[in-house]
Amino acid sequence: MEERKLPTHVGIIMDGNGRWATEKGRPRTDGHREGANTLKELALHMNDLGIKYASVYAFSTENFKRTKTEVDFLMNLFIEMFNNEFDQILKNNIRIVFSGREKPLSDKVLKAMRGIEEESKDNTGLVLNVCLNYGSRSEIVDMTKKISELYKDNKISLDDIDEELIRKNLYNDLPDVDFLIRTSGELRLSNFMLYQLSYAEFYFTRTYFPDFHSDEFDKAIDDFNDRNRRFGGN
Ligand code: FPP
Repeated sequence: MEERKLPTHVGIIMDGNGRWATEKGRPRTDGHREGANTLKELALHMNDLGIKYASVYAFSTENFKRTKTEVDFLMNLFIEMFNNEFDQILKNNIRIVFSGREKPLSDKVLKAMRGIEEESKDNTGLVLNVCLNYGSRSEIVDMTKKISELYKDNKISLDDIDEELIRKNLYNDLPDVDFLIRTSGELRLSNFMLYQLSYAEFYFTRTYFPDFHSDEFDKAIDDFNDRNRRFGGN
């Protein structure tokens, strides 16, 4: 039997928390809490499988348009998770990094993020890149500003600007995403990692994120194994 290929970097757009809850007659916020539990399970599972990088879309820059109640709930959920619920993640050698803009996140959220980043910085297992207050176009704008500063300060010349330099100046220096999963049946990218997804295989499932457990993840990996990736060649 052929060996199962694993993607090096998995992206997950964790969609459908609200609908999961609404269909059960529960408040949308219950869906977010259940989604956070599913994320913990999947992070441990991906780490066990030997996947090196996972980027998950926790909160987009556009998500600030939601009701104050929902935004506040999500921010408190992030704080609670990073401060109290990630012990098992840390014990399992998973490293947490974040992608996104700091403004207008509160000091309390930023403190919880910096805390878990620091606590996990020497871990050598899965790198879990949590995209929080993230937008891919903002990331490209911020990268352009960083590179322009380097140029202005004579640290680089125009000829130094290449794909490698661009990647290094995104929020995190990570390899390309090979495999993107979006749950809940929506077929769009929603401003997620546009630069890093250039050659990714896409997997869409109708399952809502809270129900996207390890067995469903394994089915997605089987599907990835059936793909013939040519990277523009033949
Ligand atoms: C999209 O579903 C989901 C979000 C905007 C939030 C995702 C957050 C989590 C899964 C929790 C993550 C926790 C940590 C600790 C990072 P939706 O609300 O848009 O669902 P809907 O489309 O059904 O309304």
